[in-house]
Amino acid sequence: MSADMRDGAVESQLVNESFVDDHSPDDVMGGKKAHRIISPRVISISSGKGGVGKTFMSVHLAAHAAKAGKRVLLIDADLGLANVDVMLGIHSSGTMQNLLTGTEPLENLIVHCSQGFDVLPGGSGLYELTSLNVSEQQTILDSLREAGENYDLILIDTAAGIGDNVLYFASAAETALIVLTPDPTSLTDAYALIKVLSQQRGVRRFMILINQTDEIEGHITFKRLLSVSDRYLDVYLDYIGHVPQHPSVRKAIQQQRLLNDNDPALRPYLDKLFDHVLSRPRDASRSGGLQFFWEHTLSAGLDDESDDTGSLQAQSSL
Ligand SMILES: Nc1ncnc2c1ncn2[C@@H]1O[C@H](COP(=O)(O)OP(=O)(O)O)[C@@H](O)[C@H]1O
Ligand SMILES: [Mg+2]
Repeated sequence: MSADMRDGAVESQLVNESFVDDHSPDDVMGGKKAHRIISPRVISISSGKGGVGKTFMSVHLAAHAAKAGKRVLLIDADLGLANVDVMLGIHSSGTMQNLLTGTEPLENLIVHCSQGFDVLPGGSGLYELTSLNVSEQQTILDSLREAGENYDLILIDTAAGIGDNVLYFASAAETALIVLTPDPTSLTDAYALIKVLSQQRGVRRFMILINQTDEIEGHITFKRLLSVSDRYLDVYLDYIGHVPQHPSVRKAIQQQRLLNDNDPALRPYLDKLFDHVLSRPRDASRSGGLQFFWEHTLSAGLDDESDDTGSLQAQSSL
């Protein structure tokens, strides 16, 4: 996390200060009627701090949606430290790098996993992919735009932090889902990510998931984030819920499998949480999913060159 995105006073309020609960989590996505959107829903899963459970949530959300009959593509966009394939125990013949170098088309890289969804693997140790240039971004978008016809839901598991790729994928998706834990550093880094996404990329609505906690601590953590965000940022935070910490997660990851019905401790939490995510109305202000993805990123690239963040924000609200 870069020092300039941190603010000592705000951090101290996040971690220490009591808060005023002046609106319920459920009202924050309301107020706007969803238009009918037929393109796939695109959700990015990001966090300020690493190791909070993004990939764990991404693969389980993908499996949950697939089980509910959705056609799902999970993109491993943590291009430096990709590990969706490791968590699922799948093997791919290529990665996003092959797509970018033009050596393989997207359809050859997508792996259909036994849990009923498709995966586009990232690549580990590929330093050159940790900051995609505009033409690489465009290559990915063009491929995804075509592939999008085959899916109802596209999930993008991003890297942690406020690097270029994270900002790019999170701001191009229809919905940004932020995962954090009650750990003060995770909380302050999540705030920093929300701040950068809202102030530099015009992202206004966030789904918030608090992992490795209980109900009370999850609520307190969310209220802290909400209180400080309400005070300093122009954003809407939608609390999706919490997931407890449980040893079955580590065990499942070690065995390269998903939690199943033999792991009853977390299943009800995950099912409830993912039902919340999938039942939220589509965000008409960012309508179009992949279409928006394409248009928005193209504009963002042009705006970035002229360093005109004001006009980028205006476009993103179209
Ligand atoms: N609810 C949980 N209970 C226990 N351990 C968890 C939980 N969620 C995540 N973990 C642990 O955190 C580690 C990091 O999770 P991962 O999904 O890889 O994080 P990220 O993608 O954010 O870096 C996992 O290996 C797992 O051991
Ligand atoms: Mg990860």
